[in-house]
Amino acid sequence: MAEWTEISPEQMKEVLEAKFENLIPRRLRHMRFSNFIAPQRSKLAQVVQTIKNWRPQDGKQGRPRGSKTMLLILGEPGTGKTHLSIALIYELIMQQEVHFIKWVTAENIASEYAFSFRDDSDMSPADIEDSLKQIEFLCIDDLGYEHLSEASVGLFHRIFCYRYDWMLPTIVTTNLELEEIANRYGYRVLSRFFEMATIVHIPTKKDFRVKRAKVNIFVGK
Ligand SMILES: Nc1ncnc2c1ncn2[C@@H]1O[C@H](COP(=O)(O)OP(=O)(O)O)[C@@H](O)[C@H]1O
Ligand SMILES: [Mg+2]
Repeated sequence: MAEWTEISPEQMKEVLEAKFENLIPRRLRHMRFSNFIAPQRSKLAQVVQTIKNWRPQDGKQGRPRGSKTMLLILGEPGTGKTHLSIALIYELIMQQEVHFIKWVTAENIASEYAFSFRDDSDMSPADIEDSLKQIEFLCIDDLGYEHLSEASVGLFHRIFCYRYDWMLPTIVTTNLELEEIANRYGYRVLSRFFEMATIVHIPTKKDFRVKRAKVNIFVGK
């Protein structure tokens, strides 16, 4: 008879690290709260705390209305939106607070969806839509950067409305302003975001990529 072999905490940590690595592209895997720089007591430090402490409220307390099942991170390019969302995902995985999680860029969703209409695609449009609707925990990175087509707008609209209805945890990062979200995906989507999302603005305009490269550039008119 087979015996149970208990796995040690170290082995468990390895398993969970591997799970995280399978999910997150290489360039982004180092992103943690511990290596995110924010001056003490700054607004940025407060935002980091809000993100670190964020957990979906799934209405189990019996109050589905107003429950926050989405974390919406807004901000300029290079200000740490992707970094902070991945840092949170790392914590959620390592603490085994989520099991089935998908991290994907909006651009990938749109291009895979467009491809799925072709005859040589393994996935059908419905397969893609269902997987994004139903995954236990979804993180969509850089909403608004994807190619805008009627089909992709419809897809994002349906994903957000479905996840709103079923109160499924979702993280979204975007450079878009709130009004631009309404212009792109429709007011119905923004209205649901207002109800379901904890909305955080990254309170800086400094592009960390430029800062780190130690170059002075001027982008503008
Ligand atoms: N405050 C910060 N401390 C440490 N690294 C940062 C910070 N802000 C951004 N970065 C780094 O700068 C790069 C761009 O950040 P990223 O999160 O990808 O920006 P965004 O998603 O807002 O465009 C990444 O390599 C990220 O790790
Ligand atoms: Mg980003």
